[in-house]
Amino acid sequence: MTAGERWDAKYADWQEPGAPSEFVTGCAELLGGCPTAVDLAGGAGGTALWLAQQGIHTTLVDASGRALQIARDTADERGLRLRTVQADLESDPLPTLDELSGEGGWHAAVCTNFLHRPLLGALGTLLVPGGIALVLIATVDNLLHNARPGRPFLVERGELPVLCSGLEPISFDEGWFGQRHEARLVARRLG
Ligand SMILES: C[S@@+](CC[C@H](N)C(=O)[O-])C[C@H]1O[C@@H](n2cnc3c(N)ncnc32)[C@H](O)[C@@H]1O
Repeated sequence: MTAGERWDAKYADWQEPGAPSEFVTGCAELLGGCPTAVDLAGGAGGTALWLAQQGIHTTLVDASGRALQIARDTADERGLRLRTVQADLESDPLPTLDELSGEGGWHAAVCTNFLHRPLLGALGTLLVPGGIALVLIATVDNLLHNARPGRPFLVERGELPVLCSGLEPISFDEGWFGQRHEARLVARRLG
């Protein structure tokens, strides 16, 4: 079974995109000057739709066709422009995404709650010089209070900025955010 098929089953009961990530909405000022953005493994589009609503030309990438359909339907209902790309970020080559961005890269890249270490290591290649990356992943400490996400989907403490090599950190926070222990990185591609 492919990642897309697995996640289609998880999204089968979903009708709505869900709320945008408060980590991303909290960076509204920083994102304000970004003409384009990509949300990687952005699911049913809660965050991508919020980005589009800010006037940012947004691309939502996910393996699940079902999730992308929910996002597209919601964009139509809200009169928003949203580009969706179905891709397996664990196996599709990154240059494909780079070509899709046009202009040599996106001005902002978001990746929340999806851990594929090579993708994080290559985030800089998806961004224009000066482009901003927003990454949020739960850490292993999250297992102290939550059974999920499981160990393969969690970063070690202090690992996230190391994974995103090639980006200059603007801020890095790690700790309990409500009930979840998360690593949150805001970084910039040097240029
Ligand atoms: C935990 S959800 C996170 C969704 C969203 N980023 C968020 O923070 O709410 C993980 C997402 O990754 C997507 N996904 C899983 N494996 C993938 C892959 N190999 N390539 C692309 N997307 C994938 C799933 O379809 C799902 O939407």
